[in-house]
Amino acid sequence: MKEKTKFYCTSCGNEAAKWFGQCPACGQWNTMVEAPGDTVNRSRAGAVKVAGAAVMNLPKPITELDTLEEVRFSTGMSELDRVLGGGAVVGSIVLVGGAPGIGKSTLLLQLCGMLENQKILYVTGEESVRQLKLRAKRLGVDRQNLLVLAETNLDNVLRSIEATKPELVIIDSIQTMFNGDLTSGPGSVSQVKDCTMALMQAAKLQSFTCFVVGHVNKEGAIAGPKVLEHMVDCVLYFEGDRAMSYRILRAAKNRFGSTNEIGVFEMADNGLIEVPNPSEMLLSGRPKNCPGTCVTCVMEGTRPVLAEVQALVAPSGFNGARRNSNGIDYNRAMLLLAVLDKRGGISMNSCDTYINVIGGLELDEPAADLATVLAIASSARDHVIPYDTTAIGEVGLTGEIRSVNALNQRLSEVARLGFHRCVIPAHIRGEVKAPDGLELVSVRNIREAIFAILED
Ligand code: TYD
Ligand code: MG
Repeated sequence: MKEKTKFYCTSCGNEAAKWFGQCPACGQWNTMVEAPGDTVNRSRAGAVKVAGAAVMNLPKPITELDTLEEVRFSTGMSELDRVLGGGAVVGSIVLVGGAPGIGKSTLLLQLCGMLENQKILYVTGEESVRQLKLRAKRLGVDRQNLLVLAETNLDNVLRSIEATKPELVIIDSIQTMFNGDLTSGPGSVSQVKDCTMALMQAAKLQSFTCFVVGHVNKEGAIAGPKVLEHMVDCVLYFEGDRAMSYRILRAAKNRFGSTNEIGVFEMADNGLIEVPNPSEMLLSGRPKNCPGTCVTCVMEGTRPVLAEVQALVAPSGFNGARRNSNGIDYNRAMLLLAVLDKRGGISMNSCDTYINVIGGLELDEPAADLATVLAIASSARDHVIPYDTTAIGEVGLTGEIRSVNALNQRLSEVARLGFHRCVIPAHIRGEVKAPDGLELVSVRNIREAIFAILED
């Protein structure tokens, strides 16, 4: 029989029978890669099928299903617990993605050091046992209940899991694991998918929790975690500027909790330190008496977080205006620039504009609009926004300031960090209570906001 090949999109994981220049699912160009189809009818998958048939799994009415809550355990790191939705779920599989060197192995090894009672199996395919021991020494992880296995063959890993019966398994990383039954090499799409599927079946059957590391690779040469996202229970991305010490752990998918929560860590000499109050960290080193910066408050899940938006407006050269946005969606930033130009009375033509959010934070909430507009206006006019002033509000296309949710919570955080003034949407002024020492400036549109903050 002729061997079939399949094509996968390295951006979204879409599978197709033929090659496309543009992925039909996500619209990205040049992301389809060829991978050999699965040529072998795997014995492992077959075994599971047989076991299922013997039990005769019949459908049941929903009213008769058990309502057993999922069993969770605390990881001992409150920031990680928060992102997982209140602890790790027994029998679940969690993918931890991130660029190489961001700190995934460090995070998971530290997690092993936190758990006193669980039996843990750490499978390392990237580092030797000696390297791992050195790192563990540096992190102060030294436990009898932590077993280490340097192995890349999936069958051996599964056999070790069966033999040692751990409660937590860590696979570092999925790109180094391979199943000898498949023809493709480690790190290819079919290998990564197959290994994850096998681990998932084992995790459900033997009810252990599994953390799987996956490298994010922009070039798409190695299958990234994207192709696994739909298979696993929870996807965490570890992000941050490698040059800076702050790291943000974000849930991109979570079957057992919300995906809005973030966990903040700082990389220090002896590992990752949790940052329980990220606002202080994100505002540290803020310049005084400088135009082009404004602080806002966004909700990251249930937690209000203060963020600094910076803008630089400079005369452009002969080649037309350059625009760049970092931390705020580019199209949103362009929309805000257009609104400022047309409704705010500040001409942005023939100006280069650069927008940046400090600390590597991604602001995807419209509540940051007003601060962005004010930061741009401040830089364009060369007027300083007072150091103790913040702005919260969504900007509409007519320049109106629209309401945001959870304003009381945001204002408490603003007041807690010592700010004295906050610009808020006028029409919800009646619904909020100003915390002590915080003056609320209600504005109806961006002209009023610019007038209130930049003209006095
Ligand atoms: P690592 O966990 O190896 O990254 P990943 O597994 O995501 O590829 O992180 C390695 C980086 O972290 C490396 O550049 C060194 C740094 N680091 C510290 O700064 N302090 C530490 O205590 C450790 C263990 C690593
Ligand atoms: Mg690593």
